[in-house]
Amino acid sequence: MAADKLSTRHLLGIKDINREDIELIFETADNFKDVINRPIKRVPSLRDITIANIFFENSTRTKLSFELAEKRLSADVINFAASSSSVSKGETLIDTVNNILAMKVDMVVMRHPYAGAGQFLSRHIEAQIVNAGDGAHEHPTQALLDAFSIREKLGDVAGKKVVIVGDILHSRVAISNILCLQKLGAEVMVCGPATLIPKHMASLGVRIEHNLIKALNWCDVANMLRIQLERQDIKYFPSLREYAMMYGLDKQLLNSLDKEIVIMHPGPINRGVEITSDVADSNQSIILDQVENGVAVRMAVLYLLASQRD
Ligand code: NCD
Repeated sequence: MAADKLSTRHLLGIKDINREDIELIFETADNFKDVINRPIKRVPSLRDITIANIFFENSTRTKLSFELAEKRLSADVINFAASSSSVSKGETLIDTVNNILAMKVDMVVMRHPYAGAGQFLSRHIEAQIVNAGDGAHEHPTQALLDAFSIREKLGDVAGKKVVIVGDILHSRVAISNILCLQKLGAEVMVCGPATLIPKHMASLGVRIEHNLIKALNWCDVANMLRIQLERQDIKYFPSLREYAMMYGLDKQLLNSLDKEIVIMHPGPINRGVEITSDVADSNQSIILDQVENGVAVRMAVLYLLASQRD
């Protein structure tokens, strides 16, 4: 049985929430998934709440998904993109956010290139904060929607074997997924070239595998991550072509396995690098379900955080 209240006022990372919180978010998201599949997709739950989406880093899916979730809950929404703002004139993070809060904002959804930016802000402002990705640190709502999608597809997360393939070193999706899947009782493996698997992985209790074929034969679910070229300041592998040969998933490899595994990807996909088009678009892929579930899961997170207020 899930609790009826989250144990936290902010959602900064999966490391700060427990299994009961995750189960409560999932049960709430089940209800919201019904709502967004109805002809009238809007509920009045956040009618008195104002949410600011503050994005200091590029985003397509996550930004649209949060915005849609907020609108489906009838919140008032303001959007802020750092590239078109006074940040480029030298304003500090606290000043930027305090100016936004002076407009009576209740919640801030923030994406930022620095790890810990949400944590830092939560110590300086009153509003509740949802981390929409902070550097290579955490991306909690992505991990929640990923685990929710596994639960939807396979019935449960506990006992399932999930391999996360690719650029583990620079990926906030990987860290949040590992923590979330482990809290729900899944077994987790990471797979990629040794240069892209940080040493601390072993201390998290995940399996490490450098051979993609072995990893795929082990797992029930493969989450194929993008190479985060924008975060790489040195070369971690000879070329994208070689990476694709060693760690890319194509239809031939998928068909050579003796079982049907589930394929996931957080997007954006680099077709032909980590995954080929025929795999991304195959019926083993749940990539678009992840996107749909993202809205329901984010509605659940915002709704549950807002209900902490009274
Ligand atoms: C991820 C991110 O931004 O961390 N994308 C996303 O939120 N859907 C993964 C990525 O950029 O590769």
